Amino acid sequence: MLARNRIEVVHGVNLDQLGRRDPTHYGPLTFDELERLVDEQARELDLKARFFQTNHEGELVEHLHNLQEQADGILLNPGAWTHYSYAIRDALEIAALPAVEVHLSDVGSREEFRRVSVIRDLCLTTVSGLGPDGYRVALERLRDELAEEAVER
Ligand code: DQA
Repeated sequence: MLARNRIEVVHGVNLDQLGRRDPTHYGPLTFDELERLVDEQARELDLKARFFQTNHEGELVEHLHNLQEQADGILLNPGAWTHYSYAIRDALEIAALPAVEVHLSDVGSREEFRRVSVIRDLCLTTVSGLGPDGYRVALERLRDELAEEAVER
């Protein structure tokens, strides 16, 4: 078991509305169902997931400010903020924790504006278009990173 295994699963704007959003892009799960599934995925990988969602940009910024002592890694799906929020980008940089960007839908094959991510280069990797399975891929990447850190310490 890793000593540092706390993953903050952070969802941004409109993700609480999953279940009401276009299932061809986002699948059939409600937001609660998605969080429950990610919690199970994390347990299977010996990670401890904690969850946060907000529709208020400043709240997400402040949450990231306070994260350093509370988490060892971040799984971040900022929703539409991905594409333009430099405030969230800067706050993620301040958090200074290993992070993975996740999108349920395949943002690269949708509208032009979704191809831009202002957080991508701050993240270990971006997982997009795999639906809920993408969260497992992201958790595995974070676990690998924390395992590597543990060897280096
Ligand atoms: C999303 C993709 C974004 O473009 C969109 O604005 C979302 C969800 C995804 O998970 O596919 O709200 O981040």
